[in-house]
Amino acid sequence: MLFMSTPRRILVTSALPYANGHIHIGHLVEYLQTDIWVRFQRLRGHEVRYMCADDTHGTALMLRARQEGISEREVLETMSRAHQEDFQRFGVSFDYYGSTDSEENRRLCHEIWAALRKAGLIAERQVSQLYDPKEGLFLADRMVKGECPRCGKPDQYGDNCESCGATYSPTELKNPRSAVSGAVPETRLSTHLFITIESLHAFLETWTQSDDHLQPSVANYLHGHFLSAPLQDWDVSRPAPYFGFEIPDSPGNYWYVWFDAPIGYLAATSEWCRKNGRDFDEIWRRPGWEIYHFIGKDITYFHALFWPAMLHAARLQLPRRIQVHGFLTVNGEKMSKSRGTFVRAATYADHLDPSYLRYYYASRLSSKVDDLDLDLEDFATRVNADLVGKVVNLVSRTARLVQSTGLSAQYPEDGGLFAEAAAQSEDIASAYESCDYGRAMRSVMKLADRANEYVDRMQPWKLAKQPERARELQDVCTVALNAYRQLALYLSPVLPALAAQTAELFGAPFESWDAVQRPLLGTSLQPFRHLMSRVDPRQVQAMIEASKAEAPPAPAPQPAAAPAAAAPAAAPPARDAASAPSEPLAPTIGFEDFTKVDLRVAKILSAEVVESSRKLLRLRVSLGTEERTIFAGIRTAYAPESLLGRLIVVVANLAPRAMKVGTSEGMALAAGDGAEIFLLAPDAGAQPGQRIH
Ligand code: 2FM
Ligand code: ZN
Repeated sequence: MLFMSTPRRILVTSALPYANGHIHIGHLVEYLQTDIWVRFQRLRGHEVRYMCADDTHGTALMLRARQEGISEREVLETMSRAHQEDFQRFGVSFDYYGSTDSEENRRLCHEIWAALRKAGLIAERQVSQLYDPKEGLFLADRMVKGECPRCGKPDQYGDNCESCGATYSPTELKNPRSAVSGAVPETRLSTHLFITIESLHAFLETWTQSDDHLQPSVANYLHGHFLSAPLQDWDVSRPAPYFGFEIPDSPGNYWYVWFDAPIGYLAATSEWCRKNGRDFDEIWRRPGWEIYHFIGKDITYFHALFWPAMLHAARLQLPRRIQVHGFLTVNGEKMSKSRGTFVRAATYADHLDPSYLRYYYASRLSSKVDDLDLDLEDFATRVNADLVGKVVNLVSRTARLVQSTGLSAQYPEDGGLFAEAAAQSEDIASAYESCDYGRAMRSVMKLADRANEYVDRMQPWKLAKQPERARELQDVCTVALNAYRQLALYLSPVLPALAAQTAELFGAPFESWDAVQRPLLGTSLQPFRHLMSRVDPRQVQAMIEASKAEAPPAPAPQPAAAPAAAAPAAAPPARDAASAPSEPLAPTIGFEDFTKVDLRVAKILSAEVVESSRKLLRLRVSLGTEERTIFAGIRTAYAPESLLGRLIVVVANLAPRAMKVGTSEGMALAAGDGAEIFLLAPDAGAQPGQRIH
């Protein structure tokens, strides 16, 4: 049956990645899942616009900029470039990629805020919050550590206790400390603004529980955990200093990052519309377009309660569906830096073909909210067996045999092979439509098995040795190659690179899903080029080792692989937290690795404060035969004049690092956790320039 229905217009979003961290393979579960859906819908002939942006605001980014001694906007530029490059390497086909730190987003925030005010949904209350006097900063819940008020366990974050599960506010912690600076925090009162979401309770109950807006388990979770009791007001403001947009009618207060982040979906659409001569109102203000949000389960609360409330108040269109997915585990465990399974997208792509991961994720994804495990052994086995052993094998066993003759002019007798694959079209389409990609992949692999059985039976390599059977050979290859082409088309949302290579081989692009119904006949083939290699387990291991070596000191928060139902009912999980400086031992390195680091004794010739930075001192040091400038984050612990003439230890062969304040030509070694700093020094008598072994 041919696909005949009228084209749909669909706006699709993936959750906006935080600008304070790199894209990793956990994030890719979402972007690849969304991209597959988008590519599938385009192939079905629908108009699809896929929007995304960097999620830029909040305390974590502000701290990162301070730590690096550069401005927030400089961090944003670098990260936006890095994110977009990663997405491009993995074939994620956004129509537009913006930033929540844009003027368009600010304008739309103002507009939605005015609508919320007009609807009487904003309340004002005094809130006491912990303040870090050393950093000059209000502390988010996870920026505070102390003893659990219930069980007394030390070193617990300000929102809940990992030991006894108690939830509390950071002001209840015993002996609290700022996880940023180690200082004892003060309690300060400030005015906060709240959205009184309980007034929209009935609307939200109806919206979440009807019309397939959410997967059934998600709708049940929202009903059971939130909607069965009055909804708490949502605190949407943060006092200065905060990197974000200032609230126009509340000077000195800024919108909390989670207020302006989803508005970024609107801003990205609006910017795309302006660049492409399209009408924003048609998409977001009038019925017609279907809006699909793809998100991870940890942010369900924001998307399925707060976001519809904001859209409703502003009289904007509501999502047609919010598609929620689970988290990634690797080898059955949470991603881990020390095990090397916290793999950045770029590191993966430096070692392995992104198509492998696209396929592996697709084969493990269903329409449910289950977590997805990347079992690295299974990954290699499955990719090699399915993609290389079944799909690509079909073409590599036959294409060269008909290179000179091309395909037969008439479709030969094939025992029903082609018709059987064509008949699966709507079934495979419905699996894609419902995000049950695992089912789609299983169906395609069954078809691949049949096609391979056909080739095994017909043995074209034997026919190729009998010139009098050239016609038969051409027919067998025509059947095998058309079967391959059907598979490549069914897989093309998952494997766009393979689809492009296939289109080149046949000299015919995949124009639509229906191309699967018509065999290609009488055409010549372009010279056959190798399509895909087997996964080499040594490359997988090299990627793991590279990830171990990378492990940055302050990780972007990675959602824990916890079930959605474990999210606290009283408040959403903290999402803009900076990680505490806990420092597990780095992975073991060989002696050879150690010898790569050239440590030298250096003498401080001069030390000056860097005006634009609270942390940095500019040191001029002598290494005996040469002088260097080194920026060191030690200002809070040392007066510049106390350093003159001191011997310290520096990493002398570190590549020069461009910072906003200048280039650092090495690194001064110090112990401590940021709160306390101790410069390393050799015993008296050591000479500048001496190597440390
Ligand atoms: O959880 C996150 O990674 C957020 N940056 C997602 C924001 S999605 C949207 F609301 F902007
Ligand atoms: Zn406890």
